[in-house]
Amino acid sequence: MTALKDTDDLTREEAMTELERLAGVIAEHDRHYHQMDAPKISDVAYDALRQRNAAIEARFDDLVRPDSPSKRVGTRPAEGFGKIAHNVAMLSLDNVFSDDEVHEFTKRVRRFLRWPEDQPLAFTAEPKIDGLSCAIRYEHGRLVQAATRGDGRTGEDVTNNVRTIIDVPQTLKGDDWPEVLEVRGEVYIPNAEFAIMNAAQVAASKPVYANPRNAAAGSLRQLDASISAARPLRFFAYAWGEISAPVAKTQRQAVQNLSKWGFSINAHMRLCQNVDEMIAVYQTIEAARSSLGYDIDGVVYKVDRLDLQERLGFVSRSPRWASAHKFPPEQASTTLEKIDIQVGRTGALTPVAKLKAVTVGGVMVSNASLHNADEIARLDAREGDTVLIQRAGDVIPQIVKVLEAKQVMRSDPFQFPKVCPCPLKTPTVREIDEKTGEPGVITRCSGEFACPFQRVRHLEHFVSRQAFDIEGLGKKQIAAFFDEKTIIEPADIFTLKDRNETLKLETCEGWGDLSARNLFAAIEARRTISLERLLIALGIRHVGQTNARLLSTAYLNWERFHVAMLAAQVPASEAFIYLKNIDGVGPIMAEAIVHFFAEPQTQGLVERLLAQIDVKDAIAPKSDSPVAGKTVVFTGKLEQMSRDEAKAKAAALGAKIAGSVSAKTNILIAGPGAGSKLKKANDLGVRVMNEDEWLELIEH
Ligand code: IVH
Repeated sequence: MTALKDTDDLTREEAMTELERLAGVIAEHDRHYHQMDAPKISDVAYDALRQRNAAIEARFDDLVRPDSPSKRVGTRPAEGFGKIAHNVAMLSLDNVFSDDEVHEFTKRVRRFLRWPEDQPLAFTAEPKIDGLSCAIRYEHGRLVQAATRGDGRTGEDVTNNVRTIIDVPQTLKGDDWPEVLEVRGEVYIPNAEFAIMNAAQVAASKPVYANPRNAAAGSLRQLDASISAARPLRFFAYAWGEISAPVAKTQRQAVQNLSKWGFSINAHMRLCQNVDEMIAVYQTIEAARSSLGYDIDGVVYKVDRLDLQERLGFVSRSPRWASAHKFPPEQASTTLEKIDIQVGRTGALTPVAKLKAVTVGGVMVSNASLHNADEIARLDAREGDTVLIQRAGDVIPQIVKVLEAKQVMRSDPFQFPKVCPCPLKTPTVREIDEKTGEPGVITRCSGEFACPFQRVRHLEHFVSRQAFDIEGLGKKQIAAFFDEKTIIEPADIFTLKDRNETLKLETCEGWGDLSARNLFAAIEARRTISLERLLIALGIRHVGQTNARLLSTAYLNWERFHVAMLAAQVPASEAFIYLKNIDGVGPIMAEAIVHFFAEPQTQGLVERLLAQIDVKDAIAPKSDSPVAGKTVVFTGKLEQMSRDEAKAKAAALGAKIAGSVSAKTNILIAGPGAGSKLKKANDLGVRVMNEDEWLELIEH
């Protein structure tokens, strides 16, 4: 792991790498949270990851990945449940963390609507329930279907389970409900009931639930609904999905109607006329948090008028008309027992704080990231110190500071190792920053492929989910195979079966007939691999999933790619210039790729690997919308909508929005008052259209 730089300090290349890392890490956490109901990090830490992703995307909007976490909520539904498609996507909420950000949120809303500051604009404020969201469909007043959020588009069919929840009506009260009414809200377990549930788990020598949210998720998502029925599940209604007729004119009225039709609604919702009132409600709810009787993790603000909600619409995964004001991160103090050094795939030495185990925000913590030598020096963290830790900003928690008042006799300042902790004890080098030429923050083992620690990391990466994804070959197995010298490089994986005459894997510790056969089958299944996965697996610096996809669609075929990379060894060669000019590649990545293929060591590894596998050609991408993949620029005044609304529409159709005109621009949409951009577009022969022509194009 490299240092977590402030997002404002990231170079373009770093931003690209970081977005890629975050996409992977967030997807993994989503899987733990949604599919296994067993999160590995706190919500605060998770939000911090998403926030970091959003901040980087805001700076580099052209680097937003197709698989960006900002475009997705939750994760695929788990196996075993029937699937239900959501006719109206179930989205998530954008988060804010401070009063200033609440101000920004309301300003953003006003700007989008072109709503003057002096014109009243009401918001509702209500607790953000920490449960799991659920969509319950009524037809002619009867409950017919219920689904979890899943990935936002498809959820799990939990109809029978939801029928057992005591505050979900089987038939609606009154008669003024729409024929089709999909009620949305949160399934949760009250704290008192949660305590009883866990006491029963303890009495039965079963594992306890980490928190009420997990208990609720585990209780709802039972294939046997009679188990759900025995669990203390509750439901708060706060929103709706598909409806055959409008439910009201305002958010508040809509929720009151839900109550009238038989649902439990939250009693703490307030209508606010301005930001100060919103923040006051936040403070009141925060003060009441521990006495509510159920877990909440913030306050949700929503534009009250539903016609305005409609105009505001959505940005990829969340509505523009709502925002969640989250409660601050949780902290705890503990002892820093030891500073360990871990070696990454690229040889980066990462210090990790080994902590005396402590719970923070309901999760047991025993490791914290220290990032690099500078960070240790900045904190002046020493073994034996009492430290304040916080779960935020990274997969593993961070040390906020050393608690001075508690120190008596301190150990000596930590000396960052001058040699790699691997058996070869190769000297380490402080890397030079590619941009500034100054010493960077990363210390690396100079051993590269000679370093056994790096080789193991490389193999782990090779078989990981985004790369070859070989089932049954995880970190533990890789480590064992490497120690026995059975697998020392990727090609060895594919010769494993042939060598089994002498290896006799099935007789080795931890293996049996079945598991050995399964492993060989899993390896065989990956002998044919996509170009993209192969490129990820090679572990070239800066080449993760997005960039592997870029390269794969640019070259389409392994042989063509490989020949081009060898030709690109010549500086300023045509092959190098082509590589560097691929949209999204750039000089730093191009250098890294060329460097990779220049190394005799890697050349050998690649050659031996390619003798074992078949690489599938990539397929050139196709698109249907008339502006998909086109780069468009807006200039001048727009008359029918705000600039943001226009950009949002274009992006939704697959267009890339750029800020300035270049040879890569396909369309310039010019309104009254257009100046230099219009001139440049004319000079470059870029297609220019006015707002009406543009609307005509996208509406057909
Ligand atoms: S409104 C378009 N209101 O928070 C999204 N959501 O982090 C409308 N949540 O997916 C959601 N309490 O599961 C809304 N009072 C509340 C909520 C709430 C909890 C959940 C919901 C949502 C998630 C977003």
